[in-house]
Amino acid sequence: MFEQRNYCGELTLNDVGTLVHLAGWVDTKRDLGGIIFIEMRDVTGIVQIVFDASKNSSAYEKADTVKNEYCIYVTGEVAKRSIETVNPGLKTGMIEVIGQDITILSESEVTPFPIDTHTNLNEEVRLKYRYLDLRRADMQEAIIVRHRVMQTIRRYLTDNRFIEVETPILNKSTPEGARDFLVPSRINRGAFYALPQSPQLFKQILMISGFDRYFQIAKCFRDEDLRNDRQPEFTQVDVEMSFINPSIIMNIIEGLLKEIVKDVLAKEIATPFPVLTYDEVMQRYGKDAPDTRFELELNDVSDIFTNSSFNVFKAALGNGGIIKAIVINDEGKISRAMIDEYINYVRTFKAMGLPSVRYTGSAFETGIAKFLSDSEKQKLVDRLKLNSNSLIIFSCDKPKIVNDALGNLRIRIAQQLNLIDENKLNFLWVVDFPLLEYDAEEGRYYAMHHPFTAPKPQCEPMLDTITPQTTEAIKAQAYDVVLNGVEIGGGSIRINRMPLQKKMFSILGISEEEAKIKFSFLLDALKYGAPPHGGIALGLDRILMLLLKRNSIRDVIAFPKTQKGQCLMSEAPSPVSAQQLKELSIKVVEL
Ligand code: AMO
Repeated sequence: MFEQRNYCGELTLNDVGTLVHLAGWVDTKRDLGGIIFIEMRDVTGIVQIVFDASKNSSAYEKADTVKNEYCIYVTGEVAKRSIETVNPGLKTGMIEVIGQDITILSESEVTPFPIDTHTNLNEEVRLKYRYLDLRRADMQEAIIVRHRVMQTIRRYLTDNRFIEVETPILNKSTPEGARDFLVPSRINRGAFYALPQSPQLFKQILMISGFDRYFQIAKCFRDEDLRNDRQPEFTQVDVEMSFINPSIIMNIIEGLLKEIVKDVLAKEIATPFPVLTYDEVMQRYGKDAPDTRFELELNDVSDIFTNSSFNVFKAALGNGGIIKAIVINDEGKISRAMIDEYINYVRTFKAMGLPSVRYTGSAFETGIAKFLSDSEKQKLVDRLKLNSNSLIIFSCDKPKIVNDALGNLRIRIAQQLNLIDENKLNFLWVVDFPLLEYDAEEGRYYAMHHPFTAPKPQCEPMLDTITPQTTEAIKAQAYDVVLNGVEIGGGSIRINRMPLQKKMFSILGISEEEAKIKFSFLLDALKYGAPPHGGIALGLDRILMLLLKRNSIRDVIAFPKTQKGQCLMSEAPSPVSAQQLKELSIKVVEL
């Protein structure tokens, strides 16, 4: 048995008349009294097997005993279906296999959910019985596409002279901004490894070692709050190159994404991608990863209201705030109740209220209409290009609050009003990010990307006189790639000179001792002819989620974790034995 093997989903009209040997599972079974139809499934798909009592009674009797999800081995002859029995819903629907023999390899209990369900399955149940969930067509597709994409990545990057290098999993921590997962060392009592948040430092070291172009399909670990596009353990397509500039990297990555899209969707995407600056996307979309599949752009109208009689605008401007507006050509569809719901929604982003007004096509009505002077009205018509029945929603506060509120609201409204063309793939680059962010509460600077990112050469002198007010103007040689409003990758040109790296650490409040303890190997390596280098990492799970139109990255990962970081199938994480803790000199204390 098994020496000869054919695959269910690969049988075609060309196989008619041949004897085939199939191994797989019973997807469904129908008994029409004297004839049993089994839809048999393997990794390639489904084919119908027919057992006819009048032609082969022993095979029929055996087939009669099988149930859904039994694992079976079938020998039979491929036959063409008559016109009236062709199943256009099945890839193999033109043919069927006339069963000659059937062996039950393994029985199955009744499964907790039918394997052929596509929707409305409780995710917890799916994750608990992941082995069954992975039998479902949707999941098989995701995992097989993932495999293909990984081969495409390897082929493309290898063709472009990249070398795949594995970097360690047991590490010292790299500061990417999230919390580390720690692993205690038994041999070195009291010492811990950190799982890599990314291979950042190692890939830079590889450049210093002369490997020129590196890549890795790398597992990364971050102990952060989870969302639908975040997992504690995820996969990056990690890339680093020497002797480059941002446009060389961007070009390579565009070529790679082109290949991936071709592979997954058989579609050609246009390159080069649009390149937008950070300042521009924040201005127009309120987010550094904008979704450009629909308009509803943000417009700064602060200057129109410098003499406003509306107290809320007056107070916001007086406090150093801004006023932005979005225009929704809704032809009157958005009701007062919907606006109230939006007001509620933007509270999440600390925005207090959403003043609004309706433009009827010739006049302003409702909301704040009574506070608008004639000149303000005219300026709004001109600035916002008002010409039809539209609702104008304002937000006025500190720039961050206004951008968060309207940036998220525009997406919510677009979803609600069906303004998003789900077939579009809007790739774009965001460049010229600020190098640093100032945290007023903590009174310190943070690296916006990571501490190894180089400033733009013309901004470097500004580091010597940095103040919280000048921080945003110091731009980094950093770039993010965005697809449909989701950041699918980010990277930068790195600092390759010791004095500048030391200056960055000092601005970030990392003392010389701390820098030595944390990254002495990088600092030492930078002393020995470090080439100019830079790179990027793409989030593989996110790319697959978007291209396969799945709601969550859990749907493109074979064994994902829940929002609480648990694997419901294996029940990780779990307590360990007292003996294991003792060996590690670890004591769990109640806090
Ligand atoms: P960054 O932190 O921007 O950069 O990560 C790169 C990309 O990885 C994906 N990603 C995630 N995907 C799923 N779950 C997560 N928790 C998660 N976190 C990040 C995103 C993101 O764009 N070392 C740098 C790269 C570099 O500078 O070369 C880095 O890791 O798609």
